[in-house]
Amino acid sequence: MLRRLHPDQPDSFAFTPANQEWAEAQITKYPEGRQASAIIPLLWRAQEQEGWLTRPAIEHVSEMLGMAYIRGLEVATFYFMFQLQPVGSVAHIQVCGTTSCMICGAEDLVAVCKERIANKPHELSADGRFSWEEVECLGACSNAPMAQIGKDYYEDLTTARLNEILDELSDGRVPVPGPQNGRYASEPLGGLTSLTDHESGRTQYNASAQAAVDIGDTVKRIDGTEVPLLTPWQRKPDAPEAETVEEVEAEEPRPAKGESADKTGVTEQEAEATSKSKPRSKRDPKGESADAAKAETSAPAASGQKPAQLDGPREGGADDLKKIKGVGPKLEQMLNGMGFYHFDQIAQWGPEEVAWVDQNLEGFKGRVSRDTWVEQAARLAEE
Ligand code: FES
Repeated sequence: MLRRLHPDQPDSFAFTPANQEWAEAQITKYPEGRQASAIIPLLWRAQEQEGWLTRPAIEHVSEMLGMAYIRGLEVATFYFMFQLQPVGSVAHIQVCGTTSCMICGAEDLVAVCKERIANKPHELSADGRFSWEEVECLGACSNAPMAQIGKDYYEDLTTARLNEILDELSDGRVPVPGPQNGRYASEPLGGLTSLTDHESGRTQYNASAQAAVDIGDTVKRIDGTEVPLLTPWQRKPDAPEAETVEEVEAEEPRPAKGESADKTGVTEQEAEATSKSKPRSKRDPKGESADAAKAETSAPAASGQKPAQLDGPREGGADDLKKIKGVGPKLEQMLNGMGFYHFDQIAQWGPEEVAWVDQNLEGFKGRVSRDTWVEQAARLAEE
């Protein structure tokens, strides 16, 4: 399939300040002279910001990386993950049409997309919320037929299930990705037939689907609420102040500056930067302040107000907290462990309680406010 730039392009592109900072940090991950290696994440970020990848964005990223425009265009037009035209605001459905999927019903899935979304690929649906295209093998052939929707794979699809998935997305819900026919992963439908003693215990979903549920970002675009930028070699606002530029550079060198990776694949600079992430300065040669700061961050946060807790669910059992969008089995388990079992408990949290829980959800900080749990819980409590 020919992948061409869209005929209608905006005049310009600029990263938002936060995305610009993120992009510049990504570039520091690569050795001097190898900044072009950052092109995929930077193009992806530009796409996440705009919804699709525009020509000005490709050229902007190419300029940031000191690359000829044609090199940036080569990358952008090669990978199906880059959308070269506007896509549906809710979801873009990428149906695999390669051999395994084709013989297992991909053409029927395409027919659903034509009927439900638009007659032609890359055309927006009448309401602008959906679009679709046929793509080459996505590497999930043993779960054919399948489609990528947002960042996840929906596998073992049938036309009926794809129709349901479109309905769910239309209603603002995000269907759980992974196999859609009851399979856990890619084992035989009837269960394992070999290596049965290697069955290692299961979570509700396979690891990939579980991560999608826990992270909750399947069709969500990057909006700054994700895992914070981790580039420990870059100066942190709370690091000891250095007096001069030379001192800053001496204390926290950029990784791989002018040097190649050693045989372990880790640059000497990276190793040095890791050790420097415990800031050691003349004023704090042992890095004690960093150790103290680390101890502080690993302890439960003291900010906010701890909400009222229960020793266990009330009579009648706990509510299914997974009904709150953004709460998966893991988060539900964490909430139960903290003494929260019922929608009405969460519905009563004020800003102080939200701040406390937000801070104490290890690995999921900020989810309560980001996903408006209180409002959702209030609605669910009334049902
Ligand atoms: S043929 Fe469809 S995922 Fe490989």
